[in-house]
Amino acid sequence: MPANAALLDYLRTRRSVGTGFLAEPGPSREQLETLLTIGLRVPDHGKLAPWRLILIEGEARAEAGARLAAIAARRHPDYDAAALDVERHRFLPAPLTIGVLSTARHHPKIPEFEQLLSAGNVAFNLVNGAFALGYAATWTTRWYAYDPEAAELLGARYGERFVGFVSIGTPTASIEDRPRPAIADRVTRLTFP
Ligand SMILES: Cc1cc2nc3c(=O)[nH]c(=O)nc-3n(C[C@H](O)[C@H](O)[C@H](O)COP(=O)(O)O)c2cc1C
Repeated sequence: MPANAALLDYLRTRRSVGTGFLAEPGPSREQLETLLTIGLRVPDHGKLAPWRLILIEGEARAEAGARLAAIAARRHPDYDAAALDVERHRFLPAPLTIGVLSTARHHPKIPEFEQLLSAGNVAFNLVNGAFALGYAATWTTRWYAYDPEAAELLGARYGERFVGFVSIGTPTASIEDRPRPAIADRVTRLTFP
């Protein structure tokens, strides 16, 4: 397979763009189809496809935010208007957020751990696919991935859990990279005496 300089350059320098810096426009219908194709093309031991995606776009973004804010207000009676406003805008202004659910369940041969990892691959492939299409993206979980009532509101069914939400849009700012771990600190070579 020939070397792919553009892909190599992307992989060596890629970084996310935070949800606060994502705006319109988002992917077209055709681009979304491509993005979803990329997202679902991941390693998957046993070919179980142990994941499901929820598209949060259009008017559902504000409605989801309003409902999240209502849950947050019940959970945190001390929240002021500004804090509730943050919840209301969770899926704005990004034009598209894709919730990635792990549907992992007991299987005689494939550990749930591996099924969960496959769902993580879906989320990261969506991030990379978004950049490949000329957009920016970031992967977050936030409280509503873990709060059962909020997760259900956002589309989780019994036994499913969100591995995260991939927010996608056009970047409104150029983002500083963060320090990256040094290879020497994280990598050792297996040796035997
Ligand atoms: C599973 C997972 C959940 C995350 N959840 C959050 C989150 O809730 N809030 C947040 O600010 N960042 C969260 N992040 C981190 C963002 O993706 C973050 O911006 C990322 O570290 C940027 O790294 P990158 O530039 O290498 O893509 C999460 C990352 C992962 C892998």
